[in-house]
Amino acid sequence: MTLFKQLYLKFRYYIVGLFYFKYTIPAFLYSLERDRVERAEPQLGTAEPFDSPGKLLNVESTPRGANFYFEQAELHISYLTRDLVRVDWKPGLEPIPYAIARQDWPEVETTLAETEDGWTLDSGELQMAVAWDGSLQWRDRAGALFRQEQPPQRKPEGWIHRAPLEQDERIYGLGERASSLNLRQAEDKEGNPKTFRIWNFDAAGKYTPGSDPMYISIPIYMGLHNNGSYLIFYENSYEGHFTFADVATADFEGGPLRYYLTSGPPAQLLERYTKLTGLSPLPPRWALGYHQSRWGYRTEKNIQDMVDEFQARDLPLSAVHLDIDCQVGFRAFTIDPDRFPNLPKFTEDLLEKGVRFIAILNPGIKYSRDSNLFLEGQLLGAFCTRSDGTLVSAPVWPGWSVFPDFTNSKVRHWWSRQYRYLLDAGVTGFWHDMNEPACFVAWGDGTLPPRSTKHFMEGRGGDHREAHNLYGLLQAQAGYESLCNHHPDRRPFIVSRSGWAGLQRYAWTWTGDIESSWGALHQTIATVLGMGLSGIPYSGPDIGGFQGNPSPELYLRWFQMATFLPFYRTHSSNNVEARPPWVYGEPTLSIVKAFLELRYRLMPYFYTLAQETSQKGYPLVRPLFWADPQDSQLWDIEDGFLLGDALLIWAVAEKGMRSRSVRLPQGTWYYFWQDRQFEGGQSVTVETPLEQIPVFVKAGSIVPMEEGNCLILHLYPPVQGSGEGWIYSDAGDGYEEGRSDRFYMVRDEQGLEVRWEEEGTYPFPYTQVQVHLHGFQPQQAWIDDREVEIQGRLIQGERFSRLYVRGSD
Ligand code: NOJ
Repeated sequence: MTLFKQLYLKFRYYIVGLFYFKYTIPAFLYSLERDRVERAEPQLGTAEPFDSPGKLLNVESTPRGANFYFEQAELHISYLTRDLVRVDWKPGLEPIPYAIARQDWPEVETTLAETEDGWTLDSGELQMAVAWDGSLQWRDRAGALFRQEQPPQRKPEGWIHRAPLEQDERIYGLGERASSLNLRQAEDKEGNPKTFRIWNFDAAGKYTPGSDPMYISIPIYMGLHNNGSYLIFYENSYEGHFTFADVATADFEGGPLRYYLTSGPPAQLLERYTKLTGLSPLPPRWALGYHQSRWGYRTEKNIQDMVDEFQARDLPLSAVHLDIDCQVGFRAFTIDPDRFPNLPKFTEDLLEKGVRFIAILNPGIKYSRDSNLFLEGQLLGAFCTRSDGTLVSAPVWPGWSVFPDFTNSKVRHWWSRQYRYLLDAGVTGFWHDMNEPACFVAWGDGTLPPRSTKHFMEGRGGDHREAHNLYGLLQAQAGYESLCNHHPDRRPFIVSRSGWAGLQRYAWTWTGDIESSWGALHQTIATVLGMGLSGIPYSGPDIGGFQGNPSPELYLRWFQMATFLPFYRTHSSNNVEARPPWVYGEPTLSIVKAFLELRYRLMPYFYTLAQETSQKGYPLVRPLFWADPQDSQLWDIEDGFLLGDALLIWAVAEKGMRSRSVRLPQGTWYYFWQDRQFEGGQSVTVETPLEQIPVFVKAGSIVPMEEGNCLILHLYPPVQGSGEGWIYSDAGDGYEEGRSDRFYMVRDEQGLEVRWEEEGTYPFPYTQVQVHLHGFQPQQAWIDDREVEIQGRLIQGERFSRLYVRGSD
């Protein structure tokens, strides 16, 4: 290594820091100007405030519910389904339904009845009571009271909505949070219940466990207590503050008080919510593989060397992500032709090796007449302006930049067209960064001036206070539509840092610039789980943490856990060491390799879960209480998670930890590494040598794995009774029909029967099938009534309709 390089590596942190110095003066000037224009902006208090809606004067039945007229407000209740209700307190601004995926709901019959305390409205599934003062009560089908709401309070702009919580009630959600999974457990520095801010925020440089707000804020939460569980989503994109003490308080700075409420077990809540806000489409299969990224790959050669090394070491790799260093002056939609001289050929070669090229894309456009994109956008009126028409500009990576107004469909179409040439050059997917939108500031929020920045809002007009939280969502929509149009035969792949309700329809996300620490590894799980409960099923952390250099042990433990999370990517900052898996030497490398291989073997399981997500809206990874919402011992667990219904994973998030205690939900569980059986409903201690983190498989599951052309069915027999599993397969991309292989397993006195049923036209993609029995010693086996050989616990064969294995535990 040259002396120059050695010096650079030693002082990289400071050298990189010096580079940022050029943004200091613009950041200072911007912050000054922002404060000045914001002060000059008239404060519009449009509504007559009130502390309560007053007395109920009149009630009117409507086709899907009823309208209640109070002295100062109106309450419109609409059942969209028998267990999903929209509540509208008026007056208020009508939200633009960016979050909402479905408008045409069949009519729902409800019964309206007067009671001593007010009125009730009932669909048979969900009953609500409206009291004379405007307070509400919600009951489930069995009549159990699961939620109460106080009469709302109207501010000059915005609303405050309060709901007393049950003593044992847990709260989850609010989009992306660096908090405990149960948000009610989080405290501020003074030990008071924490107030969570709903305002998408670039947590750069200060993201540690406890930071708030984060990149994706969604006003949605799930309540879980002994009387049931429910989910509430406020369709209000304004800044809000949520506190969960004895009372849950939702305080919005502006916008309407419109919310949707549904009750039922967690799986059903997610199903209903994603009916409303949309499902995540099935991703291309490769996206579930491993992604390598780094802020710092500057040239074709950097990438080439890295991919070659992956190949030489036989490490699987599905995608590389190119950060802003690949661009020309950090400008959107550019890749430097000097440093990537053969991009189309280069991306083609990568693709031949099974590696996709994902390019970063920030929304800020350099404010310069030298930029064609700027000139084009300016002519179109594509950028956010103040009310006098001047462009809103702020410093971000390319320097002073302007920002497309994605609340205008014309602008979204214009933006969509820009992806074209990179797609033609072989870029497969896009990584939307800095889209809160973020900019550089010396103080205050690093975003556009909220009051003075005007937005088109599909023609009705509005300002950044309303559009801010929607910005990343609408950029993702534009990107998604572009990819669909350009390659109608491929499934789009976009990772977006910011977003709002509905983001799941267009993009995946990652958990941002978290520090590299054991605490951060622990934090990641709650953050990913919370996002899943907020409707965003595809997320994952920068493995090893973004900021800082993880020790080999920390990197390894992070890698092991991320093997079971949907988005599996290593990424890191430009002022830390490069982090391909081999830099840590042995034994880390071999263990990382084993986990990488395990992830690829598990691909049929992941892909089947992804198909389930595209139909039901379930997150791929779920909190433990998903398995048994009644077991209150599971409600606060945040260092373990379920991957689908079959796998249970616990992180090892402590230095030197070589054994740990884990809580198992009801049922019987097999320890993945040794096939040992454990009874659920208790805590058990397992060894956690460096080679393993705790992984359990639920008895009664069939876990499909693959190796080359061979499908391996791992059978974990039920202790008694039956179990099942299924596999979804298709071409892995595109929209041709797939197939489902369903397996039904029944345990009897002598052994185990497995029946295989096939559906769909896609040809069976494997040439061999192996059955691997766990926790069960086979003695004799028959495939379709023909006796077959058993090798240990393995049965080699082909497809079968019926397998019978005689044997014992
Ligand atoms: C911020 C992103 O969160 C990070 O992942 C990225 O590396 C930097 N921006 C540079 O583009």
